[in-house]
Amino acid sequence: MSRSAHPAGPRHADVLPEGHYTAPPADLNALDPKVWAHTVTRDQNGVVNVGGIEVTRLAEEFGTPAYFLDEADFRSRARAWRTAFGHDADVFYAGKAFLSRAVVRWLHEEGLNLDVCSGGELATALSAGMPADRIAFHGNNKSETEIRTAIEAGVGRIVLDSFQEIVRVAHIAQSLGKRQRVQIRVTVGVEAHTHEFIATAHEDQKFGIPLAGGQAAEAVRRALQLDGLELIGIHSHIGSQIFDMSGFEVAAHRVVGLLKAIRDEHGVELPEIDLGGGLGIAYTSDDDPREPHEIAKALSEIVTRECEAAKLRTPRISVEPGRAIVGPTAFTLYEVGTIKPLDGLRTYVSVDGGMSDNIRTALYDAEYSVALVSRTSDAEPMLVRVVGKHCESGDIVVKDAFLPSDLAAGDLIAVPATGAYCRSMASNYNHALRPPVVAVNDGGARVIVRRETEEDLLRLDVG
Ligand SMILES: Cc1ncc(COP(=O)(O)O)c(C=O)c1O
Repeated sequence: MSRSAHPAGPRHADVLPEGHYTAPPADLNALDPKVWAHTVTRDQNGVVNVGGIEVTRLAEEFGTPAYFLDEADFRSRARAWRTAFGHDADVFYAGKAFLSRAVVRWLHEEGLNLDVCSGGELATALSAGMPADRIAFHGNNKSETEIRTAIEAGVGRIVLDSFQEIVRVAHIAQSLGKRQRVQIRVTVGVEAHTHEFIATAHEDQKFGIPLAGGQAAEAVRRALQLDGLELIGIHSHIGSQIFDMSGFEVAAHRVVGLLKAIRDEHGVELPEIDLGGGLGIAYTSDDDPREPHEIAKALSEIVTRECEAAKLRTPRISVEPGRAIVGPTAFTLYEVGTIKPLDGLRTYVSVDGGMSDNIRTALYDAEYSVALVSRTSDAEPMLVRVVGKHCESGDIVVKDAFLPSDLAAGDLIAVPATGAYCRSMASNYNHALRPPVVAVNDGGARVIVRRETEEDLLRLDVG
């Protein structure tokens, strides 16, 4: 993404500061459908609506900060993934992006499977009625209790992440008189983020077993010998926020290479291959994500081609999109508290949330966009940094964006595309109360995860 300083617009700067901003948008009141949930519109009074409800009403009823999730949008994205991959492939929604019982029910109804990576996510999935055989259990250091609970529940697969875990899962399965279906997660030496991928040296990470040096082949050898395990396939996840399919191409080539080596050594053709998640979404208008049907077609072509070349039967493919389903479906609504123009630099707009509800900007330097949503404005654009109320100067929600220069305390602003990895990574830093998630659909709004209260915080503090 090439973003650079632009000579036009900012009000409080004669010389523009370094930043990741493009030109101010031609119309600050416009809502780019790429970054907003499907039902988000601006009504004739200039107020933004979602699911047919004004954000001003939502703020009154549910308070701010709060995440508002467009249920119809979530369902239609989930369905689009399901339909795109058809009956010959499986879509596992990655629960780490955002999980709640309502979400589990929607996924179940839309025919998706679920990837969980902790006892807590598993408990949420089971308590909301996701059939255990549609659950994949992930994680690089699952506890014995988590493994036992997962096997007892009958999860469809456990993704093995280390040599120790191969033995641990086999023992626990055997002690329960079961044979657990497993995949082995390998690192293929590819790491992909946004528009780039790097095809060397990325075995240097905590996840998976490297293909390099024959380690993954050795893991397969051991797994095939253990009675408690039924090895069904190989798993690879190469990164996040990926737009370019070439990283998947290299990954599929290498995973199929392993399948071929397994066939040649053991006479076994593993029936499945999981290519993980990581497909990108639009956080700003500069991002151009691919549609699920394009991704499905590309992945299936890549795997089929590689298998034909290796003279292997094409395995059943699975994928694990998280962000690509839930990310665009929600926005965070904040109330503006203070506005601090710093001459020659930029204007700091402080909101009533921050890094406790969106850590991604501080953690990954993530980019977001922002809009004034409680009214329209014809004022000139002002370069802003949207910051939170926490005791960290890195408490930034939106690094560089434009808002109208008549912005005032009490205005509502919203940051779109916060459905993934925001509530699920939210914290109580500074004893912040984690915001609610409100599902909005067809003129109705209901809390699916309630706002934390001071009583919740104090209940844990038993000293
Ligand atoms: C193994 C695995 N699968 C799927 C995902 C989901 O990634 P995303 O939400 O970017 O699609 C992740 C994310 O970290 C992951 O580690």
